Amino acid sequence: FTVDWDAGHYDNGGYEHYLLKEISEQPDTVARTLRGRIDDRFHIAHLGGLDMDARETRSFRRVKIIGCGSAYYSGQIGAQLIEELARMPADAEPASEFRYRGPVVEPDTLYVAISQSGETYDTLAAVQELKRKGGRVLGIVNTVGSAIARETDGGIYLHAGPEVSVASTKAFTSTAVAFALLALHLGRVRDLSPADGRRICEGLRRLPEQIKEILTLEEQIRELAIKYADAPGMMFVGRVRGYPVAREGAQKLKEISYVHAEAYPASELKHGPLALISPELPTVAVVPDDELLDKNLTTLGEIRARHGRILMVGHRTSEAADDCVVVPKNENELDPILLTIPLQLFAYHAAVALGRDVDRPRNLAKSVTVE
Ligand code: G6P
Repeated sequence: FTVDWDAGHYDNGGYEHYLLKEISEQPDTVARTLRGRIDDRFHIAHLGGLDMDARETRSFRRVKIIGCGSAYYSGQIGAQLIEELARMPADAEPASEFRYRGPVVEPDTLYVAISQSGETYDTLAAVQELKRKGGRVLGIVNTVGSAIARETDGGIYLHAGPEVSVASTKAFTSTAVAFALLALHLGRVRDLSPADGRRICEGLRRLPEQIKEILTLEEQIRELAIKYADAPGMMFVGRVRGYPVAREGAQKLKEISYVHAEAYPASELKHGPLALISPELPTVAVVPDDELLDKNLTTLGEIRARHGRILMVGHRTSEAADDCVVVPKNENELDPILLTIPLQLFAYHAAVALGRDVDRPRNLAKSVTVE
């Protein structure tokens, strides 16, 4: 009932697992997603595949993003980028939920469907429902010529190359990058200033080198994964920009290591899950150096006070955490793209330490082409 896992004809590049190969390819795959799409003269994004002139691009008043699994979480990063850079209301929703609740489809909403494979049934069916109701749907898709690419009215190809391992990594990152380009595009036909456009263009150009720097942290992250992998479960927390990163970090860990992982907005801890905090339930905290840093550090203090162990992923070390992974800083809006990568490595090494079938986790398929 799903697309068969057939990696036979793809080279594993000498890596022990496709997943590690795909994580390690990200400086290149992100460069490919960006190639030819940044205009340094007007500080805009060239996205010919959208097939929309400036007037049409301006006619939309909000953006609705749909996808499944990691595609949905990358859509949450995308929604934030669009709200921040284009100042348009935007949100993401799982494609199947969207489809079944009989959504109100409006002409001034731009719909965006995300799919690595381009074949996920729930996403495809949601696109078809949208089209039937006259909605304008863009696709952010990796696989050229796939069903979702064909059904959508235009879109952005990721150019990330084939993703073989069941858990998505490089497609997730490239989708977030594609959203940064889309947000820049939507912003620059609206009120995003040339100076801010330039700041984002420069930030995007820095990403491949910064991903290379993060990959050099692999040994440190491997040791941390071994240290935390025997926990019966883990909590992932983040605020605003950090929250979708926390969700994807938890998703990666459960998919490939089978360790129970739950993601919460950091501010919601005190409304329930704080009761779970104990030395047996360590927390991964996504703490970017942005305007919410102090609030995040206060949350870490609350976890500490309940004797919870904390692994902080951010842009500095802090005594509030037991362990810290420090990644390079980009522009605030683009930081989620980089903060996810250490969590991919963390999940990978936890899964290896636990002896899991990393590339083919139980019960999952790379592409779910049935309901
Ligand atoms: C499956 C995979 C997930 C993936 C999701 C969406 O459930 O196991 O890793 O995120 O499908 O796949 P898509 O190809 O539509 O991005």
